[in-house]
Amino acid sequence: MEPKLQRRVQRYGWDKASAFYEDSWSEQLEPAQNLLMEMADLKPGEKVVDMACGTGLVSFRAAERVGPTGSVLGTDISDNMIKSATAVAEANNITNLTFERKDTEDLQLNGANFDVALDSLGLMYYPVPLKACEEIRNALKSGGRVVAAVWGQRDRCGWAEIFPIVDSRVETDVCPLFFQLGTQDALVKTFSMAEFINVDFDRISTSLHYESPEEACAAVFAGGPVALAYSRFNEKTKEEAHTEYIESIKDFWKDDHYEIPGEFVIGIGYKA
Ligand SMILES: C[S@@+](CC[C@H](N)C(=O)[O-])C[C@H]1O[C@@H](n2cnc3c(N)ncnc32)[C@H](O)[C@@H]1O
Repeated sequence: MEPKLQRRVQRYGWDKASAFYEDSWSEQLEPAQNLLMEMADLKPGEKVVDMACGTGLVSFRAAERVGPTGSVLGTDISDNMIKSATAVAEANNITNLTFERKDTEDLQLNGANFDVALDSLGLMYYPVPLKACEEIRNALKSGGRVVAAVWGQRDRCGWAEIFPIVDSRVETDVCPLFFQLGTQDALVKTFSMAEFINVDFDRISTSLHYESPEEACAAVFAGGPVALAYSRFNEKTKEEAHTEYIESIKDFWKDDHYEIPGEFVIGIGYKA
């Protein structure tokens, strides 16, 4: 898929997903976000940028950690994600956290001297992750660190059939390289190619808990990256896609709920 088209699919897809995102994913992504926060080890007073911030699940935690002497800028390609995160920050009078719509591959933050750059589950969606990593490096001060989480290996993510199921009903692949960065040491290699040093990573296995087939379908079809394609399906196509997806996760039904395997890779690197 053309990079320009992929960015549009992401931008407008996540606009549609923003209202459903936290209900479907906040509990399921927490283990990855916990490890990312642990590896980032934010200190009071630090200046942080949180890219692909979505509704701000990580940005709010970061703002609390850096405290009133620090600051956090959350950025995301989706207007609705930015609007929703801004509304929560304003409603809660959080003054060390701002949000701005930005494509990570075109951050325009050169020389901003951030201490830390976070990217929780955004990198897989960028058409050229290396370009994004270079932009991130340019936004950091010398010695600053980047910490990013991506989904792990395809065969360890039990929900992965969602992509062929949707792709077979649209003209172009929705997320062509989704699992690439989570495979072996691909994330480390990408960080190293972007000239980060002392690169390291950790890998964790989790399971995604959903109470019913309806909940499991809502998460992947309406609350995630295929939301734009899905919104254009007619009712019959939606039903067929649901049936196929439920069949693909049937082995993960445990008595009265799903435990769908998920794997995450979290990487860290430093700007020389
Ligand atoms: C799975 S959500 C992660 C949100 C949040 N970081 C979290 O951990 O909950 C992925 C986010 O990546 C954003 N995204 C996708 N492509 C992007 C790009 N090129 N630049 C910035 N954000 C992008 C989407 O809009 C979406 O909000």
